[in-house]
Amino acid sequence: MSGIAQPNGAGGIGIRAEDVSLAWAIRKGAPVIALEGVSCAFAAGKVTAIIGPSGCGKSTLLQIVRGFLTPSSGRIAYIGGDGANRPPPSMATVWQSFNLFPWLTVEENVGFGLEIAGVSKAERQKRIGEALAAVDLQGFEAKVPRQLSGGMRQRVGLARALVMNPDVLLLDEPFGALDAQTRLVLQEQLATLVESTRKTAILVTHSIEEAILLADTVLVMTARPGRIAAEIEVGIPRPRGHATTGRPEYTALFEQIYGLLRDEVVKAMRGDDRGT
Ligand SMILES: Nc1ncnc2c1ncn2[C@@H]1O[C@H](COP(=O)(O)OP(=O)(O)OP(=O)(O)O)[C@@H](O)[C@H]1O
Ligand SMILES: [Mg+2]
Repeated sequence: MSGIAQPNGAGGIGIRAEDVSLAWAIRKGAPVIALEGVSCAFAAGKVTAIIGPSGCGKSTLLQIVRGFLTPSSGRIAYIGGDGANRPPPSMATVWQSFNLFPWLTVEENVGFGLEIAGVSKAERQKRIGEALAAVDLQGFEAKVPRQLSGGMRQRVGLARALVMNPDVLLLDEPFGALDAQTRLVLQEQLATLVESTRKTAILVTHSIEEAILLADTVLVMTARPGRIAAEIEVGIPRPRGHATTGRPEYTALFEQIYGLLRDEVVKAMRGDDRGT
């Protein structure tokens, strides 16, 4: 079974960051401490949102989870349904910038990872078709990125991650560059996808609304050096959509997260987070 709507394995893979710190060595001066003693859990089959001021280390944390960066201290553990440690699971990322290959068509962009993985042409066609259907992009197979709107490009990025049917989906501000209306529609589409696939997902976002609509748990980070300021369970029943924003539980959560975030954003704006 390879459909993108297939949940992966019984229980899925959970991830734990254990006392993770990361210092960037810079050529002149003291190292920049991006993350300091980050301990948190990303539950199997659930969506965890990370929200925090700009520059607090969210993308850095995702790169560490992905295995692209090694922490200066601490570690990342991947955990199976039985609670035992596992080797790193399959992961796919939707990066902050679209990162599409401009010279490849939509179909070729989405199928690129499968081709590298040696998946047969017939299987590729099937999976690309499913992934494009999941993000409502049928009929655009032969277009190249410059012929698409920003929202469509972002959906291609999402399809490219989904087509790999990864155990873990990492989303770094996937809708950051979009207008408010497109964003709303894509958020609802992603919420539906997330519910049907039950993948372990980590969503970095600047939007409190997006975090509440999509996540099971919201991690609020401090200004740099990034630490976990709070871990908040959302608990609002799914499906959630735009109408959810009118519910009193939503307003209460929004206020709680905003209260935590506001001070940290002010610190980051003042530059209190500069230096080490
Ligand atoms: N390659 C690098 N070399 C040195 N410093 C870096 C490097 N990449 C990131 N940093 C610094 O590490 C800190 C965390 O960066 P990161 O990109 O993880 O933040 P972020 O929370 O994702 O920010 P944003 O919300 O703006 O995307 C920032 O101060 C940034 O300037
Ligand atoms: Mg970032």
